[in-house]
Amino acid sequence: MSVHHNVKKVTTHVLQQMKNDGEKISMLTGYDFTMARIIDTAGIDVILVGDSASNVMAGHETTLPITLDQMIYHASSVVRGVSRALVVVDMPFGSYQGNSKEALSSAIRIMKESGGHAVKLEGGQEILESITRILTAGIPVMGHLGLTPQSIYKFGTYVVRAQEKDEAQRLIEDAKALEEAGCFAIVLEKIPADLAARVAKELTIPIIGIGAGGGVDGQVLVVHDMLGINNEFSPRFLRKYHNLFQEMLGSFHRYIEDVKSGDFPNEDEQY
Ligand code: KIV
Repeated sequence: MSVHHNVKKVTTHVLQQMKNDGEKISMLTGYDFTMARIIDTAGIDVILVGDSASNVMAGHETTLPITLDQMIYHASSVVRGVSRALVVVDMPFGSYQGNSKEALSSAIRIMKESGGHAVKLEGGQEILESITRILTAGIPVMGHLGLTPQSIYKFGTYVVRAQEKDEAQRLIEDAKALEEAGCFAIVLEKIPADLAARVAKELTIPIIGIGAGGGVDGQVLVVHDMLGINNEFSPRFLRKYHNLFQEMLGSFHRYIEDVKSGDFPNEDEQY
């Protein structure tokens, strides 16, 4: 059992302690009350209300369409289901890129209206002014580098990032700038494992990976992907703990049959 499993509430300081003690940090996405309650009961350290809600909850092709109001709705539902985990809320596309004033007011809305504990923004030195302004207001910030899905139309594909020397060097500089600004952790998405391990070693704050190998301080997955609810997404980095798509399909088939045949409800299932 982990050293920190007894903590009543996971804070950014607990995460730093975990890194200092060499204990890996567990993180999953969550978008609703019921799922958040199960994940929190299992003892997860961090629940990310990811803007991947745009894909898995709303069926959009990218994370771009989800709005600040929709993220606040998801985050407030998650917060009501959580008693131990740290709840980090993604700032959606368009809510922070304009200028630092807009970024701060979006972050304040998230904190006030959802009850989340921290925000996450995609990007490095180009959004440093916004990150600094949010931090100055006392709001903890998690960074996100590597594959940044909000910039998908700039990159054109979801392939592994920072494979070339220049991009890898830029990522290291961005990560150091985020740490220096005061971010409490950074997500590294879909980059070579060696590079991610180097960042985790050179930085003092926790580095959480998704498709970034095992040499980092923690791991995050999209909950619908790891449960196999989403049967159309099988990247190499994903470990599936279930095939819930098939299991749920089976249950729905049986229910339809039972209703059609009149088997449901039976004598015991009525008043
Ligand atoms: O939105 C999301 O789910 C994320 C994770 C992939 C890190 O940002």
